[in-house]
Amino acid sequence: MEREMIIVLDFGGQYNQLIARRVRECNVYAEVWPYTKSLDEIKAANPKGIIFTGGPNSVYEEASPHYEKGIFEIGVPIFGICYGSQLMAYTLGGEVKTAPVSEYGHTDIVTDGHSRLFHSVSQKTSVWMSHTDYIAKAPEGFTVTAHSKDCPVAAMENPEKKFYATQFHPEVMHTEEGQQMLRNFVLDICGCRGDWRMDSFVQTKIEEIRAQVGDGKVLLALSGGVDSSVAAVLLSKAVGKQLTCVFVDQGLLRKNEGDEVEAVFGPKGAYDLNFVRVNAAERFYEKLKGVEEPERKRKIIGEEFIRVFEEEAKKIGTVDFLAQGTIYPDVIESGLGKSAVIKSHHNVGGLPDYVDFKEIIEPLRMLFKDEVRRAGLELGLPEKLVFRQPFPGPGLGVRIVGEVTAEKVRIVQDADYIFREEVRKAGITRPNQYFAALSNMRSVGVMGDFRTYDYAIVLRAVNTSDFMTAECTNIPFELLQKVMNRIINEVKGVNRVMFDLTSKPPGTIELE
Ligand code: XMP
Repeated sequence: MEREMIIVLDFGGQYNQLIARRVRECNVYAEVWPYTKSLDEIKAANPKGIIFTGGPNSVYEEASPHYEKGIFEIGVPIFGICYGSQLMAYTLGGEVKTAPVSEYGHTDIVTDGHSRLFHSVSQKTSVWMSHTDYIAKAPEGFTVTAHSKDCPVAAMENPEKKFYATQFHPEVMHTEEGQQMLRNFVLDICGCRGDWRMDSFVQTKIEEIRAQVGDGKVLLALSGGVDSSVAAVLLSKAVGKQLTCVFVDQGLLRKNEGDEVEAVFGPKGAYDLNFVRVNAAERFYEKLKGVEEPERKRKIIGEEFIRVFEEEAKKIGTVDFLAQGTIYPDVIESGLGKSAVIKSHHNVGGLPDYVDFKEIIEPLRMLFKDEVRRAGLELGLPEKLVFRQPFPGPGLGVRIVGEVTAEKVRIVQDADYIFREEVRKAGITRPNQYFAALSNMRSVGVMGDFRTYDYAIVLRAVNTSDFMTAECTNIPFELLQKVMNRIINEVKGVNRVMFDLTSKPPGTIELE
């Protein structure tokens, strides 16, 4: 049976991957394509439907992204969202203007009660608007199916041709019944079967990778985190021993982690791949000596990583493909288009300049974290690894405030191990991410009859759905006390334990 696909045509909106994800949640495969793809390419992909995304431009400006009118003649249902709705109106002869009142945020709309797009949606429903232009007049053949106080055409459609458009964003959570609208479009209007599952993604990717790689050699930097582990297994299933995974132990991993990664992917593990472990802790500590500024530390760790990786790559010789476990949120945080760079994530960018290879493969680039985990389970990765909490590329380098030394790494590893062990034993599953970090603060304490002048450990536990915002988790006080006691007693060099209450924003999840 042929795979059904929805093409999300990207006109520069912020939520384009989110639209694809929402469609995949309806069990229909979706991909985001740039609006520069030709009509022939779109036709060749034989999509069941096309969604036009939002975007920051005004359609009536010449330089803004447009699409040839022919797309409306291929007989495929089209759903325009925000800028996409204006583009549909403009291209088909309607009128788009600067709205007298811009709408941002929650808005109530009233639907006409007949549209298939709003089937099972309340007649008055709260949606998320974000626009300065609006459709002043729908094109001929269209009817207006929803309006808000300030927006006369909050939705319009030409049901005969299966063209639908909403000024608001159904894909964001704030549009309360948005998922139902997307379901209506994808399953009812486009008539998709909704039988796509993550195993289809895995199978398709394996085939795509095989076709792309042929008999070439692939090199992957394996960190042992969820993303690169899933990428490694996917690649190893696709090309087996043509894949070499280089695992750089930079001395900034959690306690015992290097050995755990080796146990899964090394010669005694379950996979048929070439695994190279490089123990490079000393080199990293040497480079980090005396460096306190967090972004500098990140840069040094990133650069040294590249150097070590490059040396290993040279030993292997020319590789044809460099694989990376980049996932979608990495792409946004490192600055895609207009989004500001918050931190330099070290698994995006950088590497390609240094290693001699022909092409890059990023099989997980369009997935969100929970989708990567589902792919990992499909691939048979151990649950412990799949549900591992995120661990940043620069490792404990971003959990030690100030200079990084071997001694501080040892302290934070031991404290973190205790914290994680106690949370696990207590059966608490709520924090999405929790760890110990080392503040750079030393203070006076008393232990037995002696004065101490030691470090303060900071415990951090957060809940988050997207890692872009986060809240401190309410960890039972007794548990915190137990952890504090164990850390003070078992970890030399620590005489104080603190619990970080800060949310993100204004804080970040890591402490650096
Ligand atoms: P922050 O500290 O920015 O962290 O609030 C958000 C999430 O991203 C992880 N993180 C990273 N992951 N490379 C990564 O792969 C990095 O450089 C990096 N920095 C932060 C962090 O652990 C949290 O889950």
